[in-house]
Amino acid sequence: MTSKKIISNSRKYWNKIAIMYHDIVSINYKEFHYGPIIPGDSEFKLLPNSLKNIHSLELGCGGAQNSIFLAKQGAKCAALDISQSQLDFAAKYAKDEAVKIDLICSPMENISEDKLGSFDLIHSSYAISFSDNPKEVIKKSATMLKDKGTMLISTGHPLFSGEWIDLGDGEDGLFIKDYFNPTPDIRYDDKENETVRSTLYTLSEMTNWFLEAGLFIEKIIEPKPLKIDEIDKSLRKTLIPYSSNGWCDYYKQFSKIPGIVIFKARKFN
Ligand SMILES: C[S@@+](CC[C@H](N)C(=O)[O-])C[C@H]1O[C@@H](n2cnc3c(N)ncnc32)[C@H](O)[C@@H]1O
Repeated sequence: MTSKKIISNSRKYWNKIAIMYHDIVSINYKEFHYGPIIPGDSEFKLLPNSLKNIHSLELGCGGAQNSIFLAKQGAKCAALDISQSQLDFAAKYAKDEAVKIDLICSPMENISEDKLGSFDLIHSSYAISFSDNPKEVIKKSATMLKDKGTMLISTGHPLFSGEWIDLGDGEDGLFIKDYFNPTPDIRYDDKENETVRSTLYTLSEMTNWFLEAGLFIEKIIEPKPLKIDEIDKSLRKTLIPYSSNGWCDYYKQFSKIPGIVIFKARKFN
């Protein structure tokens, strides 16, 4: 399938499911989140020390909750998404929180410094796996970072493309068919047409995207989930930065195998 088709499928898919996504997934603005049912930045402390007046860009922002969090700390934020329906939610949330975010409707593959300028922080949470060419996205983004700028990217962990199998006696474990070629997650409609795909990559491949873009990797985190079984269901929305009932069902698996990997990279000219 061509890149153009993957991008246009993705736009249609996210426009179509935006209302349902925002109904099901709950993301709060009190925290900078990195992905489903894992701790936010108050635990990992990857964000720059001072957020006041920094320029930030979010890729695949969805409802732009992370940009809203940053704007509330005084950052000047731009946030980009392929789906106008997702950006409509972002605009509503920003208005509710009385912050201004520069919202841009574009595939992340088309970003360029001429159009957007340069940034102290470029971040993306659980979105680059939907890109057809994440390596190129990282390379272009690196050129848009200011000296000493930070890139914070979280995405799906390659092990999470494995299949969970019952080992008997209440135990289950992960079966990886081919670590070197993680199976893309491809969704189809009822006529068997592909609607959207997300692709995972090996850890070394992702690490090399940052290094080859001339960035220095400061930290890689394979986070364990929050202890959600100890959190009352009624409090989950407020205490878990990014949650949904569906993701909570993966708690047992997330406790054994990371579902997410977070990269913090910096630019030193
Ligand atoms: C799983 S959501 C994550 C959204 C947000 N980062 C969050 O944490 O809720 C993935 C987002 O990526 C966006 N997206 C998918 N493909 C994209 C692309 N090629 N360029 C820009 N955004 C894209 C979707 O519209 C969607 O909002």
